[in-house]
Amino acid sequence: MTSTFTIAIDGPAGAGKGTLARRLADHYRLNLLDTGLTYRAVAHSLLRLGLPLDNVSAAETAARQVDLAKLDRAVLSAHAVGEAASKVAVIPSVRRILVDKQRAFAKTPPGAVLDGRDIGTVVCPDADVKLYVTASAEVRAKRRLDEIESIGGTANFDEILADIVRRDERDMGRMDSPLKPAADAHLLDTSEMAIEAAFLAAQAIIDDVLAKRNEA
Ligand code: DC
Repeated sequence: MTSTFTIAIDGPAGAGKGTLARRLADHYRLNLLDTGLTYRAVAHSLLRLGLPLDNVSAAETAARQVDLAKLDRAVLSAHAVGEAASKVAVIPSVRRILVDKQRAFAKTPPGAVLDGRDIGTVVCPDADVKLYVTASAEVRAKRRLDEIESIGGTANFDEILADIVRRDERDMGRMDSPLKPAADAHLLDTSEMAIEAAFLAAQAIIDDVLAKRNEA
């Protein structure tokens, strides 16, 4: 039997899980899937077609067409696409279609790091390691502001914060697969932790799991 190794990373927008996922995938030579991009791809299709975000059959069609190998981060990373993604992500049938694709990805050897909102709870409940990465809404808003300013943009801290709070409420409050830590997830609060420290903490947790697996 070919064995795979799965690292599930969940948490709210802007907590640093994407960067952490990339570092871990590089370090452990695993495949990487940012599952947020799959919801963004569905939202982007609807926006492009000028369709409402609650058009279930159009969203299902767009979800079936999502090709994990062709997710274009440059196009999908726009802020408006993230907002729209959070809205299409409440549709249960869309989630089922995307979750099937995400599970198939996770099962492909040698395994994967997946980051999102429901990886440890729904997509990969048997993941070898589950991390829940969080940070206060204020810290996440400040990081986003710094990011925007670092590329020469301008933004208003209070508006960003309100946006983050609204997105958290939608992602944590939906009926189907709400954002929450799995019972067996390790919590990493990055409010006062640099990404390097979060990486080292995650590495210690993962190395421990790998050592126990090799002993078995
Ligand atoms: O991580 P992100 O900002 O790219 O995600 C965009 C939206 O997609 C997020 O607000 C909620 C949704 N999402 C989800 O419901 N489940 C996931 N596993 C990943 C993202």
